[in-house]
Amino acid sequence: MPDIIAAENLSKSYGSNKAVDGLNLHIKKGEFFGFLGPNGAGKTTTIRIITGILKPDSGTVAIDGNASGDKQKIAQTIGVIPESRGFYDWMTAVEYLGFFADLYGIAGKEKEGRINSLLTEVDLLKRKHSRIGTYSRGMRQRLGLARALINNPQILFLDEPTLGLDPQGQEDIQLLLKKLNTKGVTVFLSSHLLNEVSNLCSRIGIINNGVLIAEGTVNELREKTKLDKDKTLTDIFLNLTRNN
Ligand SMILES: Nc1ncnc2c1ncn2[C@@H]1O[C@H](COP(=O)(O)OP(=O)(O)OP(=O)(O)O)[C@@H](O)[C@H]1O
Ligand SMILES: [Mg+2]
Repeated sequence: MPDIIAAENLSKSYGSNKAVDGLNLHIKKGEFFGFLGPNGAGKTTTIRIITGILKPDSGTVAIDGNASGDKQKIAQTIGVIPESRGFYDWMTAVEYLGFFADLYGIAGKEKEGRINSLLTEVDLLKRKHSRIGTYSRGMRQRLGLARALINNPQILFLDEPTLGLDPQGQEDIQLLLKKLNTKGVTVFLSSHLLNEVSNLCSRIGIINNGVLIAEGTVNELREKTKLDKDKTLTDIFLNLTRNN
């Protein structure tokens, strides 16, 4: 099967700081990929490069066979929850999703239907005419997910989608992601909640100081560390990132 995400030899520096250093990532259609690394390791920079927001100093990215120059094709294929989320507090959820539907050229009955079904999916239907400024953090995160799904993307990129959510809010998002992945959506998830990652992800990549230091299933990563079977992904992560 061809890769749905192929990133080859990506590098990006800020001054003398190498944020991403010769990174290769290959992800197959339908995978639930977990992207881990300590603060400042280069996760957000990598996601911004792969999703076409940031130009790398060197290296190439192909999304479903489309090179990063083909911005329109890529925009149709992906949905993104970025690290810093800008909301328009004065808009209602319907206005907000409508704004993004317009950007993708979704109109008429299709637009109305898509917005209502997404708002149902993220449990915001009852608040659809409330201003976003009155939403709680969890509601905003769920609205962000609805926004990322407006174009029915094949790949969803999520940069810490459950940050700051209570356990219920975390679970709501996790269940939605699981459901989407079961329907065939490829998920690229960056998270510091290692419990969340080990529950959801079929494969994990660990980045440290801009370098991909390990890749595999939780068991494969555990074998690499030679840690006992009872050790969690947190133990494995700490072992790998401390020794590299
Ligand atoms: N716009 C920028 N200008 C200068 N340096 C930057 C910029 N964005 C990121 N960096 C630097 O690049 C490195 C990687 O940052 P990045 O945000 O990719 O890390 P991260 O893995 O997403 O971290 P976190 O877990 O804290 O979100 C850091 O050293 C950071 O300071
Ligand atoms: Mg980040």
